[in-house]
Amino acid sequence: MSLTRRSFVATAATLAAGAAASPLRSSAQPATDAGLDSDAWLERPLIGTAGDPLGVRPDFPAALSKCYLNSAYIMPVPKQVAAVGRAFVDRKLTDPIPLGEMLKQTDVVRAQFARLINASADEIGFLFATSEGENIVANALDLRAGDNVVIDALHYETEFVLYGHLRDTRGIDLRVVPHVNGAVRMEDFERVVDKKTKLVSVAWVSHQNGFVHDMRALAELAHARGALLYVDAIQAAGMIPIDVKATGVDLLCCGTYKWLLGGFGVAPFYVRQGLLDRITLDRYGALHVARELPGDKFEIHATAKRFDYATLPFAEVYQLGAGLAYLERVGVPKIEAHTVTLAQELRAGLASHGKRLFTPEGTRSAIVTYWLDEDPAAVKKRFEKAGVVATVREAKREVRVGVGLFNTAEDITSFLRTSRGDS
Ligand SMILES: Cc1ncc(COP(=O)(O)O)c(C=O)c1O
Repeated sequence: MSLTRRSFVATAATLAAGAAASPLRSSAQPATDAGLDSDAWLERPLIGTAGDPLGVRPDFPAALSKCYLNSAYIMPVPKQVAAVGRAFVDRKLTDPIPLGEMLKQTDVVRAQFARLINASADEIGFLFATSEGENIVANALDLRAGDNVVIDALHYETEFVLYGHLRDTRGIDLRVVPHVNGAVRMEDFERVVDKKTKLVSVAWVSHQNGFVHDMRALAELAHARGALLYVDAIQAAGMIPIDVKATGVDLLCCGTYKWLLGGFGVAPFYVRQGLLDRITLDRYGALHVARELPGDKFEIHATAKRFDYATLPFAEVYQLGAGLAYLERVGVPKIEAHTVTLAQELRAGLASHGKRLFTPEGTRSAIVTYWLDEDPAAVKKRFEKAGVVATVREAKREVRVGVGLFNTAEDITSFLRTSRGDS
């Protein structure tokens, strides 16, 4: 989704609205660090340099102290997000933010996330983790013997646990599309998605090797056979542009501690307009009540806000707001162009060193995975000594690299040197 000046200004304006300049500032507590505790940073121009094309490195201390290439695992946050987290706790220390104000800010963040994926705010609820979205969907579809669910071999572990459980307890047919040389082919989906398929579920970008699905083709296939398409977007949102309308995705959920520059415990959940009667609630509480009716009756929100049934981890919601504002300020298309280019250069370098790549050539994500022909424990030690941070999966003998917006061509060179064992 392209960032328009209007949407940026809207974000800045909403963040600047409310008591004092910041939604977090208590009138009793002036800002101590005008650079971070206020929203002034939103208006500061980003000055790119040859070594830091996006002009973001000074905001990411984690990137300055190490060669941090592990954003597919946990993305370090920029200073601005940390400042919002600290300010939230400070308010709790001195002058707790009232619930109504936190709920208002939650709606601001809901609108920010909706913009990021080209949805409407009414289509976004807040859950606590990516897996919660999939559990809600699986429960709502009331899957039974004879129904099938189609996933693929590059999906996350949750799907194998969840649908494996439903296969064992309810007799559903779990169909796993294999990958071929690290890619999952549409023709293989076409072979197994049929009239009894209730759900096709994929990760937009695979955590295993960064493979990116053709979401539009998958949505068309699922819909043509009467199924819904659920997407785990935790490795995609904030890394590459996401457009749920253009692709036809029905349902999507993602944690926010990776590419969205947030923390743990909050996961936006997109439910396409028109699906709320199928994706029914399985839990109830005080906070999704839109109106109290006579006789102890309650009208629950008619929008996806109905999934916010109880108090949320509001400190994380506020930090997510700052993370999303940061992403809007930099622009996801720019982040994609920078990180995907570096990832492709890294892949090419690894291939030229004779490494066996799990990530297919041409992959347009910021993740690169390769197999090790040497002792993974020794590689881990070598990385530690060189200050290189990446995921070494010892049991699978794999290394996964996740390139963040703050990484540089120099980081890629350092990584290539260390992976080869050059000092
Ligand atoms: C593709 C994918 N899905 C989900 C998760 C995490 O799921 P959850 O937010 O439910 O803990 C990860 C974490 O690495 C992931 O890579």
